[in-house]
Amino acid sequence: MIGILDSGVGGLSVMREIHAQLPNQSLTYIGDTAWCPYGNKNFSDIRDRTFALSDFLINQGAEVIVIACNSATIVAIEELRSRHCIPFVGMEPGVKPASDLTQTGTIGVLATEASLAGEKFHSLVAAHAQDLRVITQPCPKFVELVERGILEGAEVDQAIDEYTSEILAANADVFILGCSHYPFLRPALEARLPDHIQFIDTGNAIARRVSQQSLTSPNQNEVNVMTTGDPKEFSRLCEILIPELSSSCQHFLAP
Ligand code: DGL
Repeated sequence: MIGILDSGVGGLSVMREIHAQLPNQSLTYIGDTAWCPYGNKNFSDIRDRTFALSDFLINQGAEVIVIACNSATIVAIEELRSRHCIPFVGMEPGVKPASDLTQTGTIGVLATEASLAGEKFHSLVAAHAQDLRVITQPCPKFVELVERGILEGAEVDQAIDEYTSEILAANADVFILGCSHYPFLRPALEARLPDHIQFIDTGNAIARRVSQQSLTSPNQNEVNVMTTGDPKEFSRLCEILIPELSSSCQHFLAP
């Protein structure tokens, strides 16, 4: 079984990519809704939550764990790898693909405060974007909107304008969607921003990395979804966000 975790519903954007590439694998997803958002929490809280959810997934029989959350990856993945012997696949803002793509030499990084503060993010920029202008922008309202299942409309457009206008004015032509919640707003972003803007979302690359792991032969291809919040509300959000994947949501009583 592949275990997947995030602070809430954001990692479902990664789960749908994993399911598309590995339709026969069983997936268990946990959204830590009771502690969402992670993006404004201190590193030690994010680390504790990520450890607790990973322990649970390992006890459930996870052979690989996908940290479908940039903030948790940036804060906790190295320690997770040293604590456990199963593989961990994490996600981080796609600075390298963005730097390959930009024509103007300016890129916008939309991510959480925690991700942008992490040492790992600074090393990514140093390694791949030293000659570029990198403009960062935390977008907490994006997380809030997606957690309410709101993917379009006036509130979304207002948040998009607030978070992108300065970056656009600086002539950026590539925007990194550096938080797993943001891809759900990609259609709205594409509709609102000029046509030449390109977006980088690493969900697909993460799924490819998961497919390279050695997993036992495919099993019952079950999709189990759990939340530390309200399972009814989480199921409603799953219907909006990943209608192609039918799943019923259970409550997970987190430690
Ligand atoms: N989805 C998460 C990420 O990729 C965190 C969003 C949040 O909880 O603030 O960073």
